[in-house]
Amino acid sequence: MLDRIDKIREEILAFAFPGSGDAESFRLRYLSKKGIIAELFEEFRSLPPGQKREVGQKLNQLKQSALEKLDEFQSAAANKDAEREKPDLTRPGVQLPLGARHPVSIVRREILEIFSRVGFVISEGPEIEDDWHVFSALNFPQDHPARDMQDTFFIRMNPDILLRTHTSSVQVRVMEKQLPPIRTVSPGRVFRNEAISARAHCIFHQVEGLYIDEGVSFADMRQVLLYFAREMFGPVTQIRLRPSFFPFTEPSAEMDISCSICGGSGCNVCKYTGWLEIMGCGMVDPNVLENCRIDPVKHTGYAFGMGVERIAMLKYQINDLRLYFENDKRFLDQFRSAW
Ligand code: PHE
Repeated sequence: MLDRIDKIREEILAFAFPGSGDAESFRLRYLSKKGIIAELFEEFRSLPPGQKREVGQKLNQLKQSALEKLDEFQSAAANKDAEREKPDLTRPGVQLPLGARHPVSIVRREILEIFSRVGFVISEGPEIEDDWHVFSALNFPQDHPARDMQDTFFIRMNPDILLRTHTSSVQVRVMEKQLPPIRTVSPGRVFRNEAISARAHCIFHQVEGLYIDEGVSFADMRQVLLYFAREMFGPVTQIRLRPSFFPFTEPSAEMDISCSICGGSGCNVCKYTGWLEIMGCGMVDPNVLENCRIDPVKHTGYAFGMGVERIAMLKYQINDLRLYFENDKRFLDQFRSAW
């Protein structure tokens, strides 16, 4: 029996992973309940007492060797796994896909930033408005055809409540609450009952501006709008004011900028006119000031309003308004680098 034990011990010491098998088959073969070592212990029990001491010692050594071997290979395997999982810190990191700001947000922010640099503060108001703030205070007579200029979403149960068609309503709220001087820009969503197409949508965004103080002139307005146009579209941009009509301004104008695509020589974006219309503006009508309890003899002011989508279209050469609302990632991803 002693010889057998020696032979098995040699076998165990010579056992090499993985060549001779894996750790589990080693364990099954030598150390399990029905394994070789357990069998030897069984045999050991029926040995004559004289042999027990020596064989017992040898058997215990054998078992110890087997356990050590198993342990050795199990920890070697564990080390190998750890090695495999150890991160390679020199590899480039995994890029987390960051979202991009929507072009309307980018341009709205830029417009507000340009005006805030010359002292305009931001004001906001409700999207669900009443007739007074959207129309009546702004000098739209009850049956004036000007009301038809803006097809309005009314609440059926109460025609006094409506979705604002412009953010001029916010300016009325500011004038009602605050004494001049007032210098504010009002960004926000507006709603008009229009068929959706490449050039019109029932929801869009505006930024409107208002400046009221003593002695504010049309020339002041022109200069601030020139400053805006050049900050937004580049320092060589020219502006042009064409007479127009709004119930709340007198005189009123539409402002064009020289085409930022062709520089004024004519292209399909400006329809070969060299000019692009970007906003409405004018001197605040004295009736509007009176409606908001501001003295029109003492104070004058100007107002202007533009569509954010339109400015973004010109800036980024986007040719279809619907793109803004579809949330197609291929469209939105193009604005990643813009702020
Ligand atoms: N409120 C006008 C619009 O929605 C824009 C505008 C604002 C025009 C202020 C003149 C003065 O079209």
